[in-house]
Amino acid sequence: MAESRSHWGSRFGFILAASGSAVGLGNIWKFPYITGTNGGGWFVLIYLACIIFVGLPILAAEIMIGRSAQKQPVVAFEVLQGKKTGWSLLGWLGMIAAFVIATYYIVVAGWTMDYTLKHLVDFSKPVRAVAIEKSLEYQANESLEAMKLTLIEDRADTLAKPLLAEIENRLPPSAWRLHREFEDALNQDGLDQPASWKKNTLEEKRRNLLINPAMAQAVAQVESLQGALAEARSTAKSEATTEIDTLSADEIRIQATTKFRYGLIGDAMTAKFMALLEDGWTSTFWAVLFMALTMAIVASGVGHGIEAACRVLMPVLLAMMVGLVIYAATLPSFGEALSFVFKPNAHALKPSGVLEALGHAFFSLGIGLGAIITYGSYQKSKGRLFGESAWIAGLDTGVALLACMMMFPIIFAFGQDPGAGPGLVFISMPLAFAEIGSGGIVLGAIFFCLLSFAAITSAISLLEVCTSYLIDRWGWSRGRSTLVIGLMISFIGAIVAFSSGEGFVFSSWTSGFGMNYFDTLDFLASNWMLPLGGLFIAIYAGWFLPKRLRDAEVADEHPVMYAIWLFLIRLIAPAMVIVVLAQKIGLFDANEALYNIVH
Ligand code: PHE
Repeated sequence: MAESRSHWGSRFGFILAASGSAVGLGNIWKFPYITGTNGGGWFVLIYLACIIFVGLPILAAEIMIGRSAQKQPVVAFEVLQGKKTGWSLLGWLGMIAAFVIATYYIVVAGWTMDYTLKHLVDFSKPVRAVAIEKSLEYQANESLEAMKLTLIEDRADTLAKPLLAEIENRLPPSAWRLHREFEDALNQDGLDQPASWKKNTLEEKRRNLLINPAMAQAVAQVESLQGALAEARSTAKSEATTEIDTLSADEIRIQATTKFRYGLIGDAMTAKFMALLEDGWTSTFWAVLFMALTMAIVASGVGHGIEAACRVLMPVLLAMMVGLVIYAATLPSFGEALSFVFKPNAHALKPSGVLEALGHAFFSLGIGLGAIITYGSYQKSKGRLFGESAWIAGLDTGVALLACMMMFPIIFAFGQDPGAGPGLVFISMPLAFAEIGSGGIVLGAIFFCLLSFAAITSAISLLEVCTSYLIDRWGWSRGRSTLVIGLMISFIGAIVAFSSGEGFVFSSWTSGFGMNYFDTLDFLASNWMLPLGGLFIAIYAGWFLPKRLRDAEVADEHPVMYAIWLFLIRLIAPAMVIVVLAQKIGLFDANEALYNIVH
């Protein structure tokens, strides 16, 4: 059996394939938007720390386990322990996570293919034409005063944000939450309220609610800040007024019209994305096509399929990315974007953002589910594993940062909000490309093509974790295993593709779980399965992997490096993951805890 195992053509091939697994939608779609919503700066630094102190050691542990066992995760633990063992459950957890992630990953990946095609056929041309026509009308008919007012309000909102955030930090998050509950209860006469409640006057309701001492305290605290909040808003407003007053009438007309046009194109882009989201058939078509391509690569084998594909796709991806970053560097907003990404901004960062950074580090490196164990098992030579891990993590982080440097200048140049959330890639970017005009269409096609390349090299590894089980455990042929698993993923993927539409089979899902089917899968996999998997992989590699096997894997490493790794994998990595999971179970609230420490 051992001789017939396929292997990578070279160490470089392994590094490319593993970075291909790491670099994916997580880097280009998710990292920029969570950096945006967490205010950049500090968040990025903390993310880097998570990669170095938790991600890197676990990555090395996965390579170590795979290389030593020469088997995929479920089988690997049996080989290493020399018998049937409970650790194999860890392999199963990983396989299930890979399967679950694959089912929604292919749907988003399918959208990137859809958007590549959309840009190739210049889908925003009619939108642009209508927007220009309507904005000319606006420019001709809207009064200067009204234009000025919109600009002032817009600017005031931006200026008020940090001021309001500062005031918000004066109270613990729980006070704001209770106050919100208070207001909701006060204003809502929902069906779940008893009839006697509805009869009460506002004053009576207020009195009833304030019987709860915690709520009474929170309401008093928040109400005592109302003055400060109002003052902050009016300061922002008067500053904005002064600023806008310095503009000439022409400048006001141009700025207001531009803003109006962005609004129109933005609405159209939102509508287009929503239409895709609701169109289960189209989403399924792309997801299945994407899966078929992934299957073709995996079925062709480790060296001739996976490695060969990554050897082509990864350099092309990097080249396209560098090209777009160079374009972004020519925009006047490049400096603003750089300082947004790299300049620490303490206001926007919340401790829960720190926890989000750790969770994302797992997803982005693709660790915790055994993909790297599987890839490591196709490695023959005992190359320096810390060096290899550093390369993989370095490329992954580099691409995530490049993605920010490519997207934020474009986002800022066209007046978009960096904190727009998940729609950043599918709404804000197409808007910007449309504004650039016909050149933007080319940039857009490159951008989405790059995203689909990144996605496919990751999807390959997700599929490979499951496929390799049938090969290593049941002795199936690669072709047959790929086909069976691929069809299963496509089938569930189709359900995901339909899950955002009306009349979805599981439409009762949302009410039961408080989020839709798609988000439930993502939540389960990236918030629970990966960190849990990573935790146990760290514990296994640090404490249970037989010492002689571990020593054999690190024979070429510097003893100091080995000692550092052992310290991180035994104590730091598990401790950090446990803190994150404890917060998720609700054992404590990170934002609240920090407030109490500081005050
Ligand atoms: N790392 C990939 C990304 O950032 C996703 C992935 C997760 C791939 C887990 C493999 C395993 O998009």
